[in-house]
Amino acid sequence: MRTYTLMLITTAVMAAPAVAQDVKVPINLPEPKEGQYVHQAPSVDDLMTDESINPELRKVILKGRDMFMNTQQFRGKYVFNDMNCKTCHMGEGRLNWSGPVWPAATTLPDYRGKNKHVNSLEERIAGCFAYSMNGQPPAYGSDDMLALAAYHQWLARKAPVYEKNIAGRGFRHLGNKIPEGVSYEKGQAVYEANCAICHGADGQGQKKDGKVVFPPLWGDGAYNWGAGMTRIFTAASFIKNNMPLSKPGSLTDDEAWNVAWFINSHERPQDPRYTGDARETREQFIGFHKHTRYGTEVNGKVLGQHDNTGGKPFLKPANLKPRTFE
Ligand code: HEC
Ligand code: HEC
Repeated sequence: MRTYTLMLITTAVMAAPAVAQDVKVPINLPEPKEGQYVHQAPSVDDLMTDESINPELRKVILKGRDMFMNTQQFRGKYVFNDMNCKTCHMGEGRLNWSGPVWPAATTLPDYRGKNKHVNSLEERIAGCFAYSMNGQPPAYGSDDMLALAAYHQWLARKAPVYEKNIAGRGFRHLGNKIPEGVSYEKGQAVYEANCAICHGADGQGQKKDGKVVFPPLWGDGAYNWGAGMTRIFTAASFIKNNMPLSKPGSLTDDEAWNVAWFINSHERPQDPRYTGDARETREQFIGFHKHTRYGTEVNGKVLGQHDNTGGKPFLKPANLKPRTFE
C-alpha cells in the first residue's frame, strides 16, 4: 500500500464553494512487475531549476503543459467537449496507472492497429484530440503541436527509447477480458453509491461559473464513441486505479468492471469513423469495438445509431490522414 496526498474536494461542491483539504489517502495501486521499467517523470520544479534547458525550450514546454492542463482554452477550435487532456491523464500526464503520456515519446514511431499505419508522436496526440476530446488536432508541425510534443518528450526525460515493458502505462492492468455476470443494473448501483455525487445522477458532470468542475461521463460533453475510454476494459482499469477521486483503489475489481459497463452503455458523440450505420462501423473496426458496446442493442436501442457529433460541426477531422509507403 502506498500513501498519497490528494486534494479531497468536499461533496457539496455545487451548493457551497469547493473546500479543498489535504488528507492522507491510502491507495492500493498495483506493484510493478519484475523487469518492468519504472519511470519518474520530471516535475515543473525540475523544469524551472534545470539550467541545462534553453530558456526558449522551457517556454515551449510550459506552453505545451498549459495546453495539456487547460485544453478548454481551445474550445471550439481543437476541443468540442468538456475534457482537458489531464481529465484522464491525471497528475499532469505524469502519473503511473493514470495513462502517463510520455511513453508515446519513447515508443513511437510504431504501427497502430487503430489507424493501420505507422504513427508519429504528433499523430498519437492527434488521436486523443479526434476521439477523447471529440475535436480536431492542431495542424502537424504547427507551434501548438510542437509545444504539446515538447511537453510529452520532456516528461520522458531519461527513459529508454523503444522500451515497451513499462510499469503503470496506459489503462489496462485488469486485462481485457470482461468477467462473467457484469450487468447494467449492478453498474448502476455502484455508480449511484460512488460516482453520482460528483459526476451527477445523469452522468453530465458539474460546472461552476461555466467551468467544468466534474467532467461528464456520457452525453455531448463526454468522449466520443471512437475514444479508447469506450472500451470496457480501459474504463474499468482507469476507474479501478483513479476513481472515486477521493478514494482511488477502493473499488473491488468487480465494481470497477460493472460501473465501466454501465457508463459505456450510454450515448455519446458519434465515432468519427462512422460509415452511416453503427453495426457496420462496429464490424469494420471490430478489433477495437469488440471491447465496446457501440453498435449493440442496449435497453431497446442500438448504441451509436445516430448523426449526433456532439458540439462539433463535423464528423471526422480533415487532418487525420491515412499514410502509406507503397
Ligand atoms: C477521455 C479520456 C482521455 C482524454 C480526455 C485524453 N486522453 Fe489520451 N488516452 C486516453 C486513453 C484511454 C489512452 C490509451 C491508454 C491505453 O492504451 O490503455 C490514451 C493514450 C494517450 C497517449 C499514448 C500514451 C502511451 O502510453 O503511449 C498520449 C500521448 C495521449 N493519450 C495524449 C493525450 C493528449 C495530448 C490529450 C489532450 C489533447 C489526451 N490524451 C486526452 C484517454 C484520454
Ligand atoms: C470526488 C469527486 C469524484 C468522484 C466521487 C468520482 N469522480 Fe470521476 N472524476 C472526478 C474528476 C475531478 C475527474 C477529472 C480528473 C482531473 O481533472 O484531474 C474525474 C474523471 C473521471 C473519468 C475520466 C474523464 C471523463 O469524464 O470521462 C471517469 C471515466 C470517471 N471519473 C469515472 C468515475 C467513476 C466510475 C466514479 C465512481 C466509481 C467516479 N468517477 C467518482 C471526480 C470524481
